[in-house]
Amino acid sequence: MAETVEPGHYSGKRDIRTNAVNYVIELAAIEKAFAGHQVLKKVSLRVKEGEVCSIIGPSGAGKSTLLRCVNLLEQPDGGNMIIAGQYLEAGRSHSRRDLLTLRRNVGMVFQSFNLFPHMTVLDNIVLPQRRVLKCSEEQARTRGKELLERVGLADKADAYPAKISGGQQQRVAIARALALDPKVMLFDEPTSALDPELAQEVLAVMKEVAASGMTMLVVTHEMGFARTIGDHLVVMEDGAIIEQGVPEQVMSDPAEERTRKFLSAVNR
Ligand SMILES: Nc1ncnc2c1ncn2[C@@H]1O[C@H](COP(=O)(O)OP(=O)(O)O)[C@@H](O)[C@H]1O
Ligand SMILES: [Mg+2]
Repeated sequence: MAETVEPGHYSGKRDIRTNAVNYVIELAAIEKAFAGHQVLKKVSLRVKEGEVCSIIGPSGAGKSTLLRCVNLLEQPDGGNMIIAGQYLEAGRSHSRRDLLTLRRNVGMVFQSFNLFPHMTVLDNIVLPQRRVLKCSEEQARTRGKELLERVGLADKADAYPAKISGGQQQRVAIARALALDPKVMLFDEPTSALDPELAQEVLAVMKEVAASGMTMLVVTHEMGFARTIGDHLVVMEDGAIIEQGVPEQVMSDPAEERTRKFLSAVNR
């Protein structure tokens, strides 16, 4: 579980125990290599409570790997992080309990919706609550129905995933993640497999989740979302953050030539 953090561990040499700002996500010098290829090169990032941080950048930049390191779907090779108060360090084996705590605190939504095809929409949301939160069937179903209502799919509770649209499946995936009452939500290009109008309904749900105060880290190609919903924008290239700041500022007047090139390529 959460441990005391030694001062000086972080790139800013800041002792987080004495800091008034509440960062829900803190990554310090996160490194990851695959077969000798350095995919993350000491990435450091902080996201405040309730903030929406968007990550953009070309394919292969390491965006997905970074998100996967946050919930330890990938083990970083170097660095350390605090996620929702839990201190985690690269190169240390984490107990099952630590991983459970982390997975409970961090909800994730992927590009592919990953719903169980043989279960109804509602059962997809009930299952993780039963398994992870050990809720009663009745509690889980009540909460599941509330969440389906919230994402506008109350009438699809008994449908099977194959019978609803991709946008609806992704909204179910969001409801499923929210069912565990996470402190952080990670989104990895949640709309890139969808037609534009279906993408819009998913973005609307994400906007509502953001407005509810959720801390969110969102890898996206949706520049409109990053600009209007995002509080902070991070640009990654080649395993590193090349630029970050207020979305409007970074998008309209990037400091880096590489950011400018990337933005003009996606806006074409
Ligand atoms: N499991 C893996 N094994 C080997 N290489 C990987 C693996 N996951 C990602 N990579 C490589 O890491 C780099 C960054 O990938 P990724 O994080 O998916 O980038 P992005 O999401 O920005 O497109 C790519 O070169 C990719 O091929
Ligand atoms: Mg990716």
